[in-house]
Amino acid sequence: MKKVLTGFLMVGMILSMGAGKKNQQTAKKTMNSVFRGFLGLVPFMNSQMKFKDLANKEEIHTHLTTLKNAFENAKHIKTFEMPGFNPSFEQAKTHLKETLEAFEGGQPDFARVRLRATGQLCISCHTQLKGNRGSFGPLNTLSRSDFSSDYEFAEFLFLIRNYRKAERYFEKEINEAFEKSRKLSKVNKVNSFAYRGNKIERSLEKTLTIHTKVKYAPEKVLPIIQKYSRNKYIDSELKGKMEGWIASLKKWKKSDYEGRIKNANELRSFIDKNLSKYADSFSSFDGRNDVDLLVASGALYQYLYKKPRSKDTPEVLFWLSKVDEHLNNSFLFSLSELYLKRCITDYGKTKWGPKCYRTYRDKISHGYTGSAGVFIPKDEVDELKRLKSFLN
Ligand code: HEC
Repeated sequence: MKKVLTGFLMVGMILSMGAGKKNQQTAKKTMNSVFRGFLGLVPFMNSQMKFKDLANKEEIHTHLTTLKNAFENAKHIKTFEMPGFNPSFEQAKTHLKETLEAFEGGQPDFARVRLRATGQLCISCHTQLKGNRGSFGPLNTLSRSDFSSDYEFAEFLFLIRNYRKAERYFEKEINEAFEKSRKLSKVNKVNSFAYRGNKIERSLEKTLTIHTKVKYAPEKVLPIIQKYSRNKYIDSELKGKMEGWIASLKKWKKSDYEGRIKNANELRSFIDKNLSKYADSFSSFDGRNDVDLLVASGALYQYLYKKPRSKDTPEVLFWLSKVDEHLNNSFLFSLSELYLKRCITDYGKTKWGPKCYRTYRDKISHGYTGSAGVFIPKDEVDELKRLKSFLN
């Protein structure tokens, strides 16, 4: 009997592994079409002139359509229904539909801005996955010469999860920016900080993200941040933020946290220790808490990925929403509201449903509060009504 049971278990395991594999393959297939569309758009995306040029209109339209359809046709894919990916998936669908509409409606500038923001959506899913060295064929079809700067190439590498190479190009960008500052300060002593740009900051943030959220290695990124924080071309505001990062990285390095939350008990103590202070307040984006938030984001996504159907899911969604709200938007596309919605529609009858609803409602009314009081538009009022109906 025992043997038969084991046999059944084995068959079950093999079947479920097969199913998992199949889902992955279809997600992969979708991503291949997504990538095809995206790749085709890269040459136009970074140039306003090329994007507006009527000679390119048809080609851009074709790629935008490919991109939009790839997401639209991926409805049934299980991977995209998982609670960590689904908010990004839904957002990508709406976002690309509206981007195409803007392009067709004769607003190429607006469409281009939106398209560039799409990269953030790709990243919001991909940073939940492990790295990918880029051995995958089509990913190697683009090289540095296809991009106008090291920064743009680095962003692309980051997006396709080739983190090691991305990091190298982010560092190149930072060092070039320092070099430019040095040259400028020679010409013009008064304006010694003239060249700063936000690329240094963005590059540092991405490097930090790789070693805190994607793979947890505070000891690796600490010396990098320390090195750059001492550079005289870093302005005082960024320096202040980096000091906050350094202090937290030291704290994490010393802590007994190993980069993942293994069970419900660990989840509870992780939240108490690191997140409970973010429960109510609306954020002040000084960036000093970035490291804590990034580590938490990585930990929560991983938990959700490993245990998508656990009874802790609504709680994890609630905290992901909080983390997103507090993390500076330059890190990720904010999906804060979408996590709350998911918590309400799928878990409305648990004790987290009402809590997620109240948080969502407060966020919305906060957003529509002006000098004349609160004015919530009708479609938002309707949405609140719809969400409330899931609670009982
Ligand atoms: C809803 C989540 C989600 C969004 C949004 C998303 N991706 Fe992906 N992407 C995935 C997943 C999951 C995989 C891993 C698939 C696999 O390997 O099974 C992946 C893998 C990839 C790959 C690597 C293919 C491979 O399997 O090695 C490329 C390229 C890619 N995505 C491009 C993009 C681009 C470009 C965008 C944005 C326009 C994007 N993705 C948006 C979830 C997403």
